[in-house]
Amino acid sequence: MANLKMQNATLHQLKVFEAVARNSSFTRAAEELFLTQPTVSMQVKQLSKTVGMALFEQVGKKLYLTESGKELFVTCQDMFERMERFEMAIANIKGLKQGALRISAITTAKYVIPRILGPFCNRYPGIDVSLTVTNHQYVLEGLSSNRNDLYIVSHVPEDLDVQVKLFMENPLVVLAPKTHPLVGEKNISLERLAQEPFIMREPGSGTRRAAQTLFESHGISLKVRLDLGSNEAIKQAIAGGMGLSVLSKHTMALEGLTNQLAILDVVEFPIARNWYVIYPSGKQLSTIAQEFLDYLLNEGKQIAKETSAEGLLK
Ligand code: PGA
Repeated sequence: MANLKMQNATLHQLKVFEAVARNSSFTRAAEELFLTQPTVSMQVKQLSKTVGMALFEQVGKKLYLTESGKELFVTCQDMFERMERFEMAIANIKGLKQGALRISAITTAKYVIPRILGPFCNRYPGIDVSLTVTNHQYVLEGLSSNRNDLYIVSHVPEDLDVQVKLFMENPLVVLAPKTHPLVGEKNISLERLAQEPFIMREPGSGTRRAAQTLFESHGISLKVRLDLGSNEAIKQAIAGGMGLSVLSKHTMALEGLTNQLAILDVVEFPIARNWYVIYPSGKQLSTIAQEFLDYLLNEGKQIAKETSAEGLLK
């Protein structure tokens, strides 16, 4: 590298100079940098010596940059901006190489999220991922106590200040055993459906709440034979002839409808719902959480479309 005189200038001198130039004042620069005014003057003096030219000129009470001063000011701003970008890049690299990602999801999302997590974890092998799967109520409890980075829900809470990103559709359907007399019937009424025994998710479940809301809005009460806290257990119970149920279509992922279960054609169904990724508005997402959120809303969506029940049951 050429033997430049500017290499003798220290970063500290450049910082002091930049502050004086930006404030057009030695006094204000000294205040900003918590230095005494003589120190500031001394630093600038030494810097002009290195440059070999005056950097400021005083006209009346006002301080002006000389031609050389203007050049140096632009150079300093450029340098500091680059250094800032460098620092951000380093923070990002550190953030993506290590750290933890904590996701909390409602039970229906478990049919899709682990599949999406696979490629992401391969891309960032150094991070620890935890995925907690619970019902709607517990997901929200985790959010209130700031236990996780991101939360996947179907129903956005109205009483909490959260950021919301739409992830994908989560339609709820009526499932029956394949041998049920209603299989194959068109436009089954809600009243007709209500004559059948039902298996419902446990209280606190978003699926349960959405189904109840629909039936209640039509003044219909269901004959609930059994409450079960698991989508898988409900599917088994339906296949075993215990009744019908309202579940997310995504619970059919992987095995498809098999020859045990069928989706009934009921008016008002499917109940149109969505999955949303939410997090508290005041929360500063970690680099890895932000990266996962972006991934989820782009590549993740695509993977979900191809592998979920939506794609498979078309
Ligand atoms: P759940 O979540 O597990 O609470 O039923 C599903 C949903 O809210 O759609």
